[in-house]
Amino acid sequence: MQDFRNVFIDYNAFLLEITHPMPTPYNLPNISSIDAADLKQILETEDLINQVGQSVNAQGAIHAIRELKEVAFLVIRTFRDKFQVVLEGDTLPLLQGLQEGDFVDVHGTVVANEAAYKGIELAADSMTKLGGPSEPLPVKLGKKKLNMNLDTKLDDRVLTLRHLNERAIFKVQEGIVDGFTDYLESQRFTQIHSPKIVEAGAEGGANIFDLDYFGKKAFLAQSPQFYKQYMVPVHGRVYETGPVFRAEKHSTSRHINEYTSLDAEMGYIESFQDVMRMETGMLKHVMKHLAAEYSHELELLGVQVPKIDTIPAIRFDDAKQAVSQKHKRQFRDPYDMEPEEERLISRYAQEELGSEFVFVTNYPWKKRPFYTMRSADNPDYTESFDLLFRGIEITTGGQRIHNYDDQVQAMKDKGLNPDDFEQYLKLHKFGTPPHGGFGLGLERLTMKLLGKDNVRETTLFPRDINRLTP
Ligand code: AMO
Repeated sequence: MQDFRNVFIDYNAFLLEITHPMPTPYNLPNISSIDAADLKQILETEDLINQVGQSVNAQGAIHAIRELKEVAFLVIRTFRDKFQVVLEGDTLPLLQGLQEGDFVDVHGTVVANEAAYKGIELAADSMTKLGGPSEPLPVKLGKKKLNMNLDTKLDDRVLTLRHLNERAIFKVQEGIVDGFTDYLESQRFTQIHSPKIVEAGAEGGANIFDLDYFGKKAFLAQSPQFYKQYMVPVHGRVYETGPVFRAEKHSTSRHINEYTSLDAEMGYIESFQDVMRMETGMLKHVMKHLAAEYSHELELLGVQVPKIDTIPAIRFDDAKQAVSQKHKRQFRDPYDMEPEEERLISRYAQEELGSEFVFVTNYPWKKRPFYTMRSADNPDYTESFDLLFRGIEITTGGQRIHNYDDQVQAMKDKGLNPDDFEQYLKLHKFGTPPHGGFGLGLERLTMKLLGKDNVRETTLFPRDINRLTP
């Protein structure tokens, strides 16, 4: 009997052939599909705590080895924490060929042990080396503190950052940026990414790096000032976290040549007080976020975050006068703040006002950049502020000039040629609402928060007049 099924199939093949002629045969490549669900999960110490009695695979670095007669303990450094591996009896030989600094994959059973860190350890039954140093490490990473001078520590930053306390600094720094971002997003700020190669400096002064841009002179951005202002008429409120460059020709404990600036700019303000309110809210949120999410690192570093309620604000002149009287000291520069004055004003705020933060407001026009709004009642002063924290300036901010004629006049008053700022002035020409913002030095805030005495301690890979590596 005729098999009609085959006829049917052949007829379909015939149709396919005439509508889609078969291409020349070729070998199909091997195609695999990538599925996020297959991403390997790396266990953290807190995961192990919940898996007592279970057999697991964990990865990490051998941070320290302690060998006793019949037992060996390994401290394994995880992404954020550590745990103990125990080898004894039959498993003791697993240690052979391993050294501190090696990266391993450990298989074993999670066991409760009150004497071990966080009450658990991994009784290993196999260990695979995944990588490691080609010679014994020159630094004992397992020691509680790295007792090295700063320069040596920075020379070997690639290694010394693996120390738990060094690493914790940068985890806290992550928390600061997270808190900053969270808060600003909650206040309807939009994140922007502005160029770092620019045609003009925004902050004035000699501390600007120039570079050859295909035969044209260009600069490395000293701040995202112009760009964040350009974006106010676009998004209303904007923020940016990014690198900025300052050609500091001196070496101090508070200056580096590349730092991370946390910048915010907001439109529709009534005065620069709105900007200070926003910064207060942001800092309160950052501290809360750190206390909630970074207690592990804060404990390791022996730090408690300051509690912020309100932040006192004091006029520049009044602040100078207060400390001058209190400490019976005459300060030389009536237009600027010497580092010693900043320290004393901070101390004053702490002792007299009970705050580790203090806003110093209404700086003299003479010392502020050309974009700063002058005070209506006295044009020698400005609608601007600095925020001091534990003795140093961590922020500059204020209201900006938004009127075209006022901005052109301000440039002339500063001895600048408005023609050199054609692009910037388009902001004013095309119109912008009253606005203001601030720039906060991430490394300086981290330094003071963690009680460090040099900004390089809280800079991942610092650049200063003497340092370009690593
Ligand atoms: P300013 O130039 O004051 O203001 O910089 C803002 C903040 O950046 C930090 N900072 C530095 N940190 C480390 N090393 C340096 N060399 C260094 N220079 C500055 C400080 C400082 O308070 N456009 C304005 C901000 C604004 O008004 O929005 C500006 O850049 O913490």
